[in-house]
Amino acid sequence: MSNPTKSKLTQSPAWRALQAHQTEIADLQMRELFARDPGRAKKFSLQAGALLLDYSKHRMTAATLALLMNLARQADVEVWRTRMFSGEYINNSEDRAVLHVALRTAQEVFPADGDVMPLVRSARQSMHDFSDAVRSQRLRGHTGKPIRNVINIGIGGSDLGPRMLTQALWRYADAPQSVHFVANADPDDLAHVLAQAQPETTLFIVASKTFTTGETLGNARLARSWLIDGLKDEAAVKQHFAAATANVKAAGEFGIAPELCFPLWDWVGGRYSVWSTVGLPVAIAIGMDRFDELLAGARAMDEHFLSAPLAANMPVLLALLGIWYANFFGATTHAVLPYAEALRELPAYLQQLEMESNGKGVDRAGQTLDYTTAPVIWGSVGTNSQHAFHQLLHQGTQLVPCDFLVPVASTAAAAENALAQAAALMAGRDAGEPHRRFDGNRPSSTIMFRAIEPHTMGQLLALYEHKVFVQGIIWNINSFDQWGVELGKEIARTLAQSTATASGMDASTNALLARLHEWRS
Ligand code: F6P
Repeated sequence: MSNPTKSKLTQSPAWRALQAHQTEIADLQMRELFARDPGRAKKFSLQAGALLLDYSKHRMTAATLALLMNLARQADVEVWRTRMFSGEYINNSEDRAVLHVALRTAQEVFPADGDVMPLVRSARQSMHDFSDAVRSQRLRGHTGKPIRNVINIGIGGSDLGPRMLTQALWRYADAPQSVHFVANADPDDLAHVLAQAQPETTLFIVASKTFTTGETLGNARLARSWLIDGLKDEAAVKQHFAAATANVKAAGEFGIAPELCFPLWDWVGGRYSVWSTVGLPVAIAIGMDRFDELLAGARAMDEHFLSAPLAANMPVLLALLGIWYANFFGATTHAVLPYAEALRELPAYLQQLEMESNGKGVDRAGQTLDYTTAPVIWGSVGTNSQHAFHQLLHQGTQLVPCDFLVPVASTAAAAENALAQAAALMAGRDAGEPHRRFDGNRPSSTIMFRAIEPHTMGQLLALYEHKVFVQGIIWNINSFDQWGVELGKEIARTLAQSTATASGMDASTNALLARLHEWRS
């Protein structure tokens, strides 16, 4: 990394005030704050729609929050929020608007300048018609049989969102089809799913915004061969393949019928695309009415984000607390702990959302940063996580802020375990022997909701989207590009075309490549 010059942010009054404040309160114990103020839990919790956020178990006081709010105001968060919602080209490195919020707005015309709603409505209608045709089994395969398996082929944002939601909302999945997801370049991923399917009754959805992603195209080609081998007719491709893509031309060249190409646009980022036609597998699994509830939930969070004052704005609070630990306590990771099996894919989804958006080292003007951006997001479902890595959360040497996600309709034991973990992390316990001692003072947020239902999931995902947005604004980075994934892709292409050695590569890579060829043969 090149040498950073002092940024405006780290020199700013709001930043410096937070640094000074951190040294003052670093030793403050949360258990003392609770003992001193019986109203603390109430004071530092907030409900927005179905989501209750308890942020009282943080190493902060009302003064901390006031200083964090100054940081948000200094960064013009409200101005940037308006800029995003009005379709300005805030993705400056790609010269694009950022309008995933259009996919769930109720406005007839949006944004006022450069209306995209005719496109959005027409895509939603075609999703509606198609998912209905599949679910009702009106859509038949090449030999006239109904579709039994739907296989989504995509990766990153074209996989993680629909995969996670199909899993999360499995109780609502009332389609006669099973919905599967294939992402990995390792053909085992596809082979495993194909072993459960028959060509006559299988529908593939190739989800790729660019329709150039190597992994997705590789899997799609293998799937096409499997289909043609099975049905002995290339014409079957038109009945068994659909696409969600912004590259209709490439999808057409692949053989996908134009009426089964569901559109996407450059103003929807991959990791923000689950609300778009990329959500088609979810719509097939749960039906379009429930998919509309998901969109309505996200819209409710958009409205909260747009209208609530900063100090009572859930995404803003989560963003600022994240910054508090990343930039002022040196926390390098952040754990996401959903206490529900149905949410087991959520940490992976949030990993892409946060790390691909805010894992940046230069600011909007290209200056190297002199401060930390996105922490490593990681996690797993509770209670499994308790028996795997909570040891480190409780007694390890690192500070790991946690998000506990607690649907109360999950089994009582799971929800109560989540509350127990958060309480233990906060309060700790004095004990005679050092190895039994819990220092406590370990921060967490608890997000509680009644059940995992479409509307609530919409709110939850939009909450994290806006949290990421606010952090990106404060860090003065572009949260909507992902240039960091390009170099590896290029090198992989070079290596794939090389024999024993690749020109221009380092000695280590070439030695490994040579061994790879030797062992493969
Ligand atoms: O390589 C990263 C990435 O571009 C992600 O941002 C994106 O979600 C994923 O690849 C898939 O891209 P596509 O939908 O164009 O296949």
